[in-house]
Amino acid sequence: MSYKLAFIGFGVVGQGLAKLLVEKRGYLKNNFGLEYAVTAVSDPVKGSVYQEEGLDLIKILEQVEKDGDVGGYDKGIKGWDSLKTINDTNADVIIEVSPTNIETGEPGVSHIRAALGKKKNVITTNKGPVALLHKELSELAKKNGVVLKFEGTVLSGTPAINLSLDALAGADVREIKGIMNGTTNYMLTKMAEGQSYDEVLKDAQRLGYAETKPDADVKGWDAQAKIVILANVVMGGVLTPKDVHTEGITQITLDDIEKARKDGKRYKLIGHAWKESGKVMAKVSPQLVSADDFLYHVDGVINALTFDTDVLGKVTIVGPGAGKKETGFSLLVDLLNMHCARGE
Ligand code: HSE
Repeated sequence: MSYKLAFIGFGVVGQGLAKLLVEKRGYLKNNFGLEYAVTAVSDPVKGSVYQEEGLDLIKILEQVEKDGDVGGYDKGIKGWDSLKTINDTNADVIIEVSPTNIETGEPGVSHIRAALGKKKNVITTNKGPVALLHKELSELAKKNGVVLKFEGTVLSGTPAINLSLDALAGADVREIKGIMNGTTNYMLTKMAEGQSYDEVLKDAQRLGYAETKPDADVKGWDAQAKIVILANVVMGGVLTPKDVHTEGITQITLDDIEKARKDGKRYKLIGHAWKESGKVMAKVSPQLVSADDFLYHVDGVINALTFDTDVLGKVTIVGPGAGKKETGFSLLVDLLNMHCARGE
């Protein structure tokens, strides 16, 4: 089976997937019978290009690395915006990796609605649309006989969503708690080693962990979107981001961290969803944890989530929470799962 992919957004995450697709082309074909052509890339900064028979993905990646845009790629039609690319290209899978906006969900919501309306499958890492409109969008996908997959919205390629929906299907998840933002965990870890807030934030941006606007990480909004997604998709909640009391790490100083260290404790930004009188509730806040709590030992860009279930009790996953290859991988997993579910 061969898929035609269009990338809506070609920043860190989109390029992460593109590199994996190039590296694993033979592996995907030989092991899963999955073949692909990337026929379009559309990004407000990197530019856009559509080539019906498939772009030369290696050249596109080299071109973007060299000039920062696709302008110098010498084939295809240039200049189509995101919606024209979704509507008018031959792509049957839309890779929606435009930047997250947790307040409005845009432009991701419009991209996803347009794609599903055209009966195109959508694979996304964009947290805004899923946190705000998961129910509507998943129903639209179902109605149109296509899939909406979003593993990478939570914990990058570490399998949080697919674990919940597939491996834990049939278990009642009563509580989810853990570290769900890579940037802030990286920052808190480095600050505990004495580095300044500004310095470690810049490092997190350089390493491709932070959101396009890193306010979303340090003010807790990114973790807020993730706990809303988990609460709604996994626990049957009906939360919006506004329902979630949210505090970030902006108030935590090096002095606070040093004082905590002397007390044998560490700050961690914790997302928590639980059930209370039949209702799903959630919050995000920095908390002091001591060495007997395993979250104390989860450092750097690594995240961890514990699912408390009726059947198994606690199930915990630990893995990367952000990163170019790591988040790109979540899109590859979704593509592969979509392919395998078709049994082709
Ligand atoms: N900015 C996010 C983080 C990226 O640091 O966790 C992954 O969602």
